[in-house]
Amino acid sequence: MGDTASVAVPFSVFMHRALYDPDTGFYATGGAAGRRGDFVTSPEVGPLFGAVMARALDAWWIELGRPDPFWVIDAGAGPGTLARTIDAAAPACAAVWRYVAVEVSDQQRRQHPPWVDSQAALPTTPVVGVVLANELLDNLPVDLHHAGQPVQVREGPSGFVLEPDVNIETCQPDCTGARAWLREALSLVHRGRVVVIDYTDRVSRDPWLRTFRGHQPGGHPLDQPGTQDITVDVHVAQLEAVAPVSSERSQADWLRDWGIDELVEEGRRIWHERAPLGDLAAVRARSRVTEAAALLDPAGLGGFTVLEWIVNAV
Ligand SMILES: C[S@@+](CC[C@H](N)C(=O)[O-])C[C@H]1O[C@@H](n2cnc3c(N)ncnc32)[C@H](O)[C@@H]1O
Repeated sequence: MGDTASVAVPFSVFMHRALYDPDTGFYATGGAAGRRGDFVTSPEVGPLFGAVMARALDAWWIELGRPDPFWVIDAGAGPGTLARTIDAAAPACAAVWRYVAVEVSDQQRRQHPPWVDSQAALPTTPVVGVVLANELLDNLPVDLHHAGQPVQVREGPSGFVLEPDVNIETCQPDCTGARAWLREALSLVHRGRVVVIDYTDRVSRDPWLRTFRGHQPGGHPLDQPGTQDITVDVHVAQLEAVAPVSSERSQADWLRDWGIDELVEEGRRIWHERAPLGDLAAVRARSRVTEAAALLDPAGLGGFTVLEWIVNAV
């Protein structure tokens, strides 16, 4: 963490280095979403989430008057699983889309499918289309306050410490990184929408800041920076201070609104037809039932919040 040795830095600077330092950051050195990674996100549960997203994208494309190109900007794309699963569902808009997978980690970008436009940062030219961010904002740096005072991080002789020395769980988070990202995303969309899917303070979790390592809770956020994920509940009111949200639903409601139940029913039917063959199509169809249970679970992924900002709809 280098120059934090004697100088106190805002928590956002510490968090940014711990997660994204190109040499030692968690995401630069192998931290990843996925079944073999450190956490399982909705696209990593299986292809069902991408299939539902494909339906939503087609509906938004039609609503915008079938623009060509139709920009799909997948922000914080990780290894590209959402892109692969949306594409596998063959949405009609794929005929004209420009799919941009934005991922800050080189290591993750190298895993993107060849047909996406893989970039390290959001494009800057305004587009007609959609900016999606699944579990990105919870990983963007926050600042901390305690009793109205800023809390910083200093490297001491026996590791990193908070200054003043307070219990991190009693601090108030300021989602500075998430707010800055939202501002940038909104300025990028000329017509269309920004869609954020994440765990938010709408569902109360304790503590609001968590660490993960290898599918298990990690240690104290200041311990061994770069070896664990640091993630926070996204504060909806703080994002609303950037721009009022157009729609807010739980992930479970959002998936139902876009037809997850229909896809599960279709899976059941295919399974019954093909079970005697026991082929891949049969197994995939059956797995929709278990995937849906994970994606809709109100105590898990189903309890996430889907926030949408619609920009210049007509
Ligand atoms: C929790 S993972 C989610 C990955 C994927 N969206 C999913 O749902 O499986 C967050 C990803 O966002 C990336 N990331 C963090 N900050 C970023 C930024 N400012 N721009 C682009 N990617 C970023 C991280 O490197 C990481 O791969």
